[in-house]
Amino acid sequence: MNTAHLRFPCFLGRRVHLGVTGSISAYKSLELLRLLVDSQISVSATLTSSGQRFIGAESFQALGAVAVHTTMFPDVPTDDPFAHLTPSRAADAFVIAPATANILAKIAHGIADDMLSTQALAFRGPLILAPAMNPAMWAAPATRENWRTVLERGGVGVGPAAGAVACGDTGEGRLSPVEHIFAAVLRALSPKDLLGRNILVTLGPTREPWDAVRFLSNPSSGLMGACLAVSAWMRGATVNVVAGPTSFDFPPGITVTPVNTAQEMLTAASELFPAADIACCTAAVCDFRPVPPASGAERKLKKRDLGSCLPSIELLANPDILRTLGATKRHGQTLIGFAAETDDLLAQAKLKLAEKHLDLIVANRVGVPGSGFESATNAVTVLDRTGRVEQWPELPKTEVAWRIWDLLQHL
Ligand code: CTP
Repeated sequence: MNTAHLRFPCFLGRRVHLGVTGSISAYKSLELLRLLVDSQISVSATLTSSGQRFIGAESFQALGAVAVHTTMFPDVPTDDPFAHLTPSRAADAFVIAPATANILAKIAHGIADDMLSTQALAFRGPLILAPAMNPAMWAAPATRENWRTVLERGGVGVGPAAGAVACGDTGEGRLSPVEHIFAAVLRALSPKDLLGRNILVTLGPTREPWDAVRFLSNPSSGLMGACLAVSAWMRGATVNVVAGPTSFDFPPGITVTPVNTAQEMLTAASELFPAADIACCTAAVCDFRPVPPASGAERKLKKRDLGSCLPSIELLANPDILRTLGATKRHGQTLIGFAAETDDLLAQAKLKLAEKHLDLIVANRVGVPGSGFESATNAVTVLDRTGRVEQWPELPKTEVAWRIWDLLQHL
């Protein structure tokens, strides 16, 4: 799965405690550990005795966990006789993935009869729980009640997902995708300075069909918009994404409207814009759409029907979504645009800022390494409606997104 939109560098040095209980999906917690460690987060872990039947402590050590607990009373005394309190004193967030019905019951009822349940009982920070169990166990009245209790007390639930489970049954009970659990942990570690804001993000390319199998498009990956959407959600905003074709999977807390064409993107964005406090148009919208061949847009044009003549393609102008939103912008709404330029970056960006009634424009060069389409990084110049201009060095797009939201607090 593409995780480029979740690779934020700003969590360096944060501390997370990872609990692993007895489920066939326990091996997936190693992938969660990798994602956290790759983000420079310091991870300690506790495996219950059932968890250790599925996965070994050595794997967690090998993949970078700073401490791995397996029992409350080790045969050989450790340097830390208060390990059952360490997460409550040191960790910024506590995640249990997978979480069995048993650990949910213990947490709901304050049972502390092993290392993990004792650490969880003592912990006062954000607790993220990703259940995994047989669908009948998940549906059992006792588990429903326990789940309600832990969520009411502030626990953050991720999943479970529906589908086939290891025992052959089908239903709700699968561990959620690891990327969703990872995103929930990052959200728990993030400030909530966009709480209460409704944010609309357009992203990705559009595809303008010519016939049934051919279309006009561009190489936009949608990464910049995906980073903006995810970081806004992590910082507390309600986020609606209108996405052209991209490969990103968004956390379930983000509402995604998939579209193909510029016209579809305009319709979706126009419906969502009135309720938005901030709209951020990052999409690489095709400015033109082809007029379908005489055989029609629903059919595949056959070469043999052409004889020796090559078809010439006529283009029609597409709507400018950002300009349309700018024209209907009400007092108090903030509109952010992007500008992809090969020449006269500053002048072009200034023009677009004024013409499209923007509050902020983020301009970058296309066709240079380290910036623009399909790149994980971007070197941007940011201009706001007050005339302020800032030039940022080449940064990961996740970092650019984070800084844009920082900047907006002072606009
Ligand atoms: N945009 C849009 N709808 C379009 C074209 C652009 O919403 N049909 C938005 C983009 O999402 C971006 C901004 O307008 O936020 C600028 O897009 P860009 O491609 O840089 O410029 P254009 O306005 O299309 O002008 P040009 O292609 O002439 O540079």
